[in-house]
Amino acid sequence: MKKTQIITTVFEYDSVDELPLKEQELVKNAKEAALRSYSPYSKFSVGAAILLENDEIIQGNNQENSAYPSGLCAERVAMFYANSKFPDSAVKAIAVTARTNGSFSGNPIPPCGSCRQVLLETEERFNQPIKLILYGEKKIRIVETIKEMLPLYFEKEMLDE
Ligand code: THU
Repeated sequence: MKKTQIITTVFEYDSVDELPLKEQELVKNAKEAALRSYSPYSKFSVGAAILLENDEIIQGNNQENSAYPSGLCAERVAMFYANSKFPDSAVKAIAVTARTNGSFSGNPIPPCGSCRQVLLETEERFNQPIKLILYGEKKIRIVETIKEMLPLYFEKEMLDE
């Protein structure tokens, strides 16, 4: 028997002012995106903003549907759009935030499992880590690579095994 541990390093900040200006701009974009979310069913508005290698910022937000599973999370809306518009540009970072009851969540909101899998494939595709910036009004969490958010992840190479 062999026991291994998979470690995730999380950096926590009290204020967005502690982040570099480019990351502050990304958080601002995620907040803007959350305000345009279509989430009449959950009333939970999520905004995401992606920083690309070519310096473009792509926003996305959650899009819901009366047939509930047909909706999509903010992270995947943003990531699929970024990859469809700029298929050759690596992704450097993604900022995520959420709003409920008219204000931004105090605590940072992490991406769901399906979004982690999609973000991870983009990370692998461009062979470059994607920094995850989770913004809450009271706390900001940063994880430097999506791999650390999804231990024992499914890799495309496994399709050939
Ligand atoms: N949602 C996101 O957009 N991102 C997440 O990381 C978690 C959940 C959305 C899906 C749904 O529209 C609403 O939030 C409630 O789950």
